[in-house]
Amino acid sequence: MGAERFAALWGSLSPVGRVGDDGGYVRHSWTDTDLVCREWFVEEALDRDLEVEIDRNGNLWAWWGEPEGEGAVVTGSHLDSVPHGGAYDGPLGVVSGLLAIDRLRERGVTPSRPIAVVVFTEEEGARFGVPCLGSRLLTGAYDPAQALRLRDRDGTWLADAMGRAGLDPDRLGPDPERLARIGAFVELHVEQGRALDHLDAPIGVASSIWPHGRYRFDFTGEGNHAGTTRMADRHDPMLTLAHTVVAADVAARTHGAHATVGRVDVAPNATNAIAARASAWLDARAADTDTLQKLVDSIRQRAEERARHDGTRVAVATESLTGEVGFNGDVSRLAALELNAPVLPTGAGHDAGVLAGHVDTAMLFVRNPSGISHAPQESASDADCAVGVEKLTDLLARLCQ
Ligand code: GLV
Ligand code: MN
Ligand code: MN
Ligand code: MN
Repeated sequence: MGAERFAALWGSLSPVGRVGDDGGYVRHSWTDTDLVCREWFVEEALDRDLEVEIDRNGNLWAWWGEPEGEGAVVTGSHLDSVPHGGAYDGPLGVVSGLLAIDRLRERGVTPSRPIAVVVFTEEEGARFGVPCLGSRLLTGAYDPAQALRLRDRDGTWLADAMGRAGLDPDRLGPDPERLARIGAFVELHVEQGRALDHLDAPIGVASSIWPHGRYRFDFTGEGNHAGTTRMADRHDPMLTLAHTVVAADVAARTHGAHATVGRVDVAPNATNAIAARASAWLDARAADTDTLQKLVDSIRQRAEERARHDGTRVAVATESLTGEVGFNGDVSRLAALELNAPVLPTGAGHDAGVLAGHVDTAMLFVRNPSGISHAPQESASDADCAVGVEKLTDLLARLCQ
């Protein structure tokens, strides 16, 4: 498939949710923008005579063949983004899935099992805080009762956001029959680093995903006047937060791991008032769960020490935790062999990582020359994306026979 052909379908989605002029995207799940993305997918699927379904957790499925059939070959990714994210993280896997179906048909492949393109909901957890929420609910890795207690930053309940989109939140929950009918899952994704660029390879295959978690640190202090409160009399939760951010950086470097505080919430958030409360979200990732645990324990310990020093309080809650994922099944082995592509680990989370515990799963990466992701500079050339479609088609063709 030529680059122009990829660019044509890509171009029909890319205006949706683009903000400002730096190429950034805001596509948060169940917002009007997300609903436009979902409509785009449904229309593209129907144009291809695929049968469209929405499952009980709001994930979208487009079927070539019988949705109730056994051993289905499923590909896809997500359409939601982080706040001001890049264009490719998620949508590339969905667009490539639709184009791969076109290519299978053009090649005259007659599948002996159903094929589907899936769009998972709230993969980034950017709106409701829990990443891979759609796939976690599907697989039973997240409790639906807990999901009903999730609210976004404006206080909107997940249930209300889904209800507004016509879904029944009381139906949220595991879908073991659906899962059991899937024989193979392949997620194609933009690479979120520069390894393929260094290797001069357009496509890679994932070997593993680092274990990772999200932790909310709530700091409480004493709000007071910025001008009149002596430095010695302060109980400033921002100060405890700042020391915790530094502690996270030091601990990550010490453990050869990754720790990030990319989101904070401060109250009352006034220039001339010492904060009364502050929350920080820690994203922590490491090569193994033991190191991850040590990393988080040491950051928590530093936060508690500093809180004692500052006369503030800190409470820590785990918002999500994902264990190490190894893609070592037949599908992944076949992908590495068939596509003759380099194999690489990743520190990023994916629906494929959630599914891998239940379904034989592989991930393909497309080269990202900027090496940047979760930011507007995320990149992939149309030519590489077209190669990605062809490689995905090769793999699906092998799997659906
Ligand atoms: C999702 O993309 C994540 O890895 O946080
Ligand atoms: Mn992402
Ligand atoms: Mn993604
Ligand atoms: Mn992800």
